[in-house]
Amino acid sequence: MIVIENIPDMVYLRLNLKEPVGFVPTMGYLHEGHMSLVKKARAENRTVIASIYVNPTQFGPNEDLAKYPRNLERDLAMLDKEGTDAVFFPEDKDMYPAGYDTWVTVDNLTKPLEGNVRPTHFRGVTTVVTKLFNIVRPTNAYFGQKDAQQALVIKKMAADLNMNLKVVVCPTIREPDGLAMSSRNVYLNPEQRKAAPVLYKSLQMAQELFANGEKNADVILGQMTTLIQKEPLGKIDYISISDTETLAELKIIKKTALVSMAVKFGNTRLIDNVILGM
Ligand code: PAJ
Repeated sequence: MIVIENIPDMVYLRLNLKEPVGFVPTMGYLHEGHMSLVKKARAENRTVIASIYVNPTQFGPNEDLAKYPRNLERDLAMLDKEGTDAVFFPEDKDMYPAGYDTWVTVDNLTKPLEGNVRPTHFRGVTTVVTKLFNIVRPTNAYFGQKDAQQALVIKKMAADLNMNLKVVVCPTIREPDGLAMSSRNVYLNPEQRKAAPVLYKSLQMAQELFANGEKNADVILGQMTTLIQKEPLGKIDYISISDTETLAELKIIKKTALVSMAVKFGNTRLIDNVILGM
């Protein structure tokens, strides 16, 4: 496995890679969720590239950029074990040199849900992912359903800007008790960790209600809210039932819907989602 820290080296390496090239962008501190993307990329491509870059522009002023967890050595060992060919590990000074002035934005899809609470977040994500795509020029790029809105926004960006690649979205990987794996789970203290599976429990409740014929979004949201509020450590940021493509809020669920939420445990904000009707 090759580790590449500067952009010209990555561009040069790309010239002679075997096609197709699968790409897994990450912010590191890897877990089985990330590795599921790497495994899928390995199964579908002749070359697999991962990136590790804690992208400053997607963090808000009061967010956890400085203390975002890092463990490069462990990350590299995990990527190597799964047969990753190259890891791109750029530096801030090269990604955003002095005078950096260009932004990629997806408009309406980034307004609700995460975008409503984190107004500059998606602009940072779409900008860095565009830069990474331009440097790595993947055939296929792999993202997790865990970040449902991010996956939709990147698909939309790739389509709208005629990016010549396929965006592949992979299922959410969970701990045995249902908590979606996340680099941020390490911030939870033992009591919060014990309470955190309530997110997925409430999502399973939504699935069950829908399977039993409930189509009224407010009824489902009401029962989910009651369940989550039984956990005094969790504070709901939002819970939403929305269209799986436009993210517009739904009153009545026809065929499918995205049920998504953010819940705070202390300063740690957890997100999770399921799709109903699929
Ligand atoms: P990061 O949070 O490190 O996640 C990297 C990729 O792993 C994302 O596509 C995310 O959806 C996926 N992922 C995280 N947890 C997962 C889980 N439990 N199951 C399945 N997939 C999971 O998302 C980012 O980084 C950044 O925004 C990035 C796209 C790299 C741009 O900076």
